[in-house]
This record gives sequence, structure tokens and C-alpha cells, in this order.
Amino acid sequence: MQARFREPPTMSVSDSFDFDHIIDRSVQPSEKWGRYAGRDVLPLWVADMDFAAPPVVIDALQRRIAHGVFGYTEAWPSLVEAVVEGLQREHAWTIEPDWLVWLPGVVSGFNLACAIAGEVGDGVVTATPVYPPFLSAPANTGRVLQRCELVLRAGRWQWDWEALERAVDARSRLLLLCSPHNPVGRVFDADELRELADFAARHDLLICADEIHCGLVLDAERAHRPIAALDEAVARRTITLMAPSKTWNIPALYCAFAVIPDAALRRRYRGAMRGLIPQVNVLGMVATEAAYRDGGPWRAALLDYLRGNRERVMAAVGAMPGLATTRPEATYLSWIDCREMMAQRQVEDPAAFFEAAGVGLSDGRFFGAPGWLRLNFGCPRATLDEALRRMAQALAH
Ligand SMILES: Cc1ncc(COP(=O)(O)O)c(C=O)c1O
Repeated sequence: MQARFREPPTMSVSDSFDFDHIIDRSVQPSEKWGRYAGRDVLPLWVADMDFAAPPVVIDALQRRIAHGVFGYTEAWPSLVEAVVEGLQREHAWTIEPDWLVWLPGVVSGFNLACAIAGEVGDGVVTATPVYPPFLSAPANTGRVLQRCELVLRAGRWQWDWEALERAVDARSRLLLLCSPHNPVGRVFDADELRELADFAARHDLLICADEIHCGLVLDAERAHRPIAALDEAVARRTITLMAPSKTWNIPALYCAFAVIPDAALRRRYRGAMRGLIPQVNVLGMVATEAAYRDGGPWRAALLDYLRGNRERVMAAVGAMPGLATTRPEATYLSWIDCREMMAQRQVEDPAAFFEAAGVGLSDGRFFGAPGWLRLNFGCPRATLDEALRRMAQALAH
């Protein structure tokens, strides 16, 4: 394995990585580009970015591939150490190595959380709009989705605490939380997390916190705080899910982990995995170690670039008649309100409208919010500018 305390790479400025470089993804199968194969549609939908993974990750993978043997492999000490140190460094969160449960994906991770939350027929509370698999997860194991709406107040997405209270009942067992939030891009502050934790305690709910976007906080003045890091009591009722996949753009390497401080909860969780959830792919784990240990400079440069893209989206969408959006505090996703445009132009399906204009966006319907679209700005600026140009043009006639 790698030396334990290697010098980190020396690159540190955003210019050291070329995010402007356009990589032709049509030459490889991919969900994002494959959807529109053979059509002139720029895909700004599914949440992966059109950038190559960090050189340190690719190097680590190449070294591992060169070895040539891909036998069964469990998480190894230097991998665990890279993650433990990464959580300490980035989120001031001290965890024990034992708390980690390796998973082949975050979606599997929150489906498992639903599976151990009470019994069939019990409730899972979440706030919409939200990443679509949140909405289907409860039913996958016979649980009942209990939803409330986030509200847009003074240009910022907020919790409606009364609506959250109304969403729970005596059968509620789990709070399924997306933090930072996809699609509204909020980084929840300490007061909001405390309120959520108190709410969970009051109703004796488990918390499953999907924190997959935690490495993508764009605002320098904000920081992601894992809800489980609030205090020990919160940690005891919480399953935190994280992965390198969004931050370092390696989602199809399928490596994620749960952090479960409470031993009994961890046992229940592992019990639900038994025989169903495979070990994590060794290449995913190799990439994860490299990303957490050495991926800092690339991530800093990426955030810089994404901040620039975010401002382009804000300016362009802000000038489009009938569309409105808010500045995402994290993620590379913009959440766009199309309802006024729909009314003005008698457009029933805004996703189809922009697709016909050559831009593929995610339909808010699947997030529980018809009339909204999600735009993925994790792409080279030339691609983004062209997509925004096409959108503006479609609205100009
Ligand atoms: C909030 C959230 N959770 C989970 C995922 C996907 O996780 P995985 O691919 O590890 O299952 C995504 C991908 O977009 C996401 O946005």
C-alpha cells in the first residue's frame, strides 16, 4: 500500500487543472450523454460532471490496474485512515474507524436505513423537492413516505417547521435528510441542524443523513456540518452516508460509506446488508483513498470553477423571461422555477420545451415539484454557455 504520510501534490491553483477542456463523452457509454445519442441536445441533467477525475485518482487507479490481480478485497487500513483524516480535516468530525460501514452506493445506503426503520407500514419523513430516490426508497421496503415542503422565503430555501411537525405521526420512524440539499443547494446551518436533531429526538426518529454533496460547498463563508457531529446523542440516532463520488466525479466507481457511531444500530444495519449488499469494488476503494488523501488541490480548483459557472447560470437564467432561480450554496445543480414561463407561453412540459431547444435538463416532477427543472452546471464553460444560449434563444421568440 501507499506510504502513510506522503507529501501531498504541490499543485494548488485552479489553473493547474484544465476544467475548460472538452472531453468527448459520446465515445464512451454514459447515462448522461447516451440519453441524447445522435441528437443535438446538450445533457445538463444527471448529477455527474463532464470533467476527468483528478490526476491523483487516475494515477492511483492505473497503478492498481497494473498489478493485474483483482481478488476479493476488504477496506484496508490506509484507506480507512484517509477517510477518518478527511472527515476530521474537512468537517472537524472525529470518528472511530469502527463506525465505518462500506457500501457500493449511497442510494443503497438510505434504502437500508428505511429497511431497518421500524416495521412495514411505518413512516419515513422527508422534505421535498428532493433527489428522486428519496421518494421511492420508503416503499421499496414497505414503509410509508411522509413528506413536507421546503419553502422559498426571501430568496432562500428554508424548512417549514410547522409543516415538518404535521408530516409526522405515531408511525414515523426515520428522518431522511439530504444535507447539503439536492436539488435546492442549501448548506444547512447549525441552528437548522439543531432544530432537525431536536425534532428527531422529540419523535424518537432515526436520522439517515445523505451527505454525499458535503465536499461541494461553494460559498467560502459556509461549511458543511455533519448532523451527527452536533453531539453524542444525535450521533447515536444517526446514519450518515458519504462518498467521494460527487466531489471527485467518480460516481460509477461505486464506493460509499455509512458512519454509524452506535454499535447496536450498526449491527442492525449490517444485519440488513447481509447476503444482499456486496463488498465494494476494489477500484472504487483505491480511488476513494487517493481522493480523500490527495484530492484537496483538485477539489479547491473545481470549486473555484464551479463558482464561476454558478454565476453564469445566475446571470443567464435571471435574464430569461418567466424563469427564476436561487444561488446554490453547494452542489453543481441549479433549481429553476419555470411556472411563470409555463403560464405565459402555455407550456405544459418545460423539460420537453428545453429539450426541443437542444438542452436536456432534469424534470422537477421526479423531485416532487412539477414546473421546476434542475440544471447541472458541472461542465466546461463552453458547454454551459452554449446550453444557456440555447435556453435564452428558445425564450426569445
Ligand atoms: C443526494 C444524492 N444521494 C445519492 C446520490 C447517488 O448515490 P450513489 O450513486 O452512491 O448511489 C446522488 C446522485 O446524484 C445524490 O444527489
